[in-house]
Amino acid sequence: MNEVDAPRLAVRGLAKHFTLHLRGGARLQVLDDTSLDVHAGECVALVGASGRGKSTLMKCLFGSYGADAGALRFESSGGLVDIAAASPQRMIELRRRDIAYVSQFLRAVPRVPALDVVAQRLVDAQPLPASDDPDDASHDHRMNLARDAARALLARLNLPRALWDLPPATFSGGEQQRVNIARGFVQPARLLLLDEPTASLDAANRRVVVELIHEAKAHGAAVVGIFHDEEVRDAVADRCVELGRTPETP
Ligand SMILES: Nc1ncnc2c1ncn2[C@@H]1O[C@H](COP(=O)(O)OP(=O)(O)OP(=O)(O)O)[C@@H](O)[C@H]1O
Ligand SMILES: [Mg+2]
Repeated sequence: MNEVDAPRLAVRGLAKHFTLHLRGGARLQVLDDTSLDVHAGECVALVGASGRGKSTLMKCLFGSYGADAGALRFESSGGLVDIAAASPQRMIELRRRDIAYVSQFLRAVPRVPALDVVAQRLVDAQPLPASDDPDDASHDHRMNLARDAARALLARLNLPRALWDLPPATFSGGEQQRVNIARGFVQPARLLLLDEPTASLDAANRRVVVELIHEAKAHGAAVVGIFHDEEVRDAVADRCVELGRTPETP
């Protein structure tokens, strides 16, 4: 296979189980020999009934869950890496520069305004300047540029301006989701993980998210998404991959 054809992400033989301590240590095999490829500029939608492991696969790709077996080969900006075997330090770097994850729920740092939740993601993704003193002028300058980009994205997502300087903890579900989406899209990613990004959005904002996904693909992102909304899925996905077997009934 030549380099042009090589997938951005190759999942091979991924297995993942959970041990349910509250159920006497019962073993729940969620993913078993899961494989899929995603190329740059392509969006693969994960489909399958509730509980089949769609979000679990996302969390393995983001390094939040370890894999029991298999490889998650990712063509990062620093070369090929197996996410399943990456060190925590390497995973932090990958998350900073290459992998964006829009989870269904925002986990924001308390007291940080919405604008900075988004802007900080952009600043974190940039290589540190010679001086890494956070008080220096170049840090302020980079943060101000990042805030401009964050404002543009929050405006596009129709988040009311009155909310930009407030921490998102008290925002409605749809408002929090838009901050989360802005944070995920503000920095071009090589791998974009979207777990039901439009679940709490109205039709107008769903259309904005569809546009953002198209733009990310055009920019060369490999996108793995879970979209319960079939209209959104049809609009953005190039292929669907069905996961897992029917979970055992208790
Ligand atoms: N941290 C965990 N500990 C124990 N069980 C877990 C954990 N995370 C997920 N599971 C279980 O793994 C199974 C798959 O969960 P997952 O969230 O991946 O499903 P899903 O396909 O995303 O479903 P949905 O469409 O409802 O979001 C479920 O039965 C869930 O209860
Ligand atoms: Mg899920």
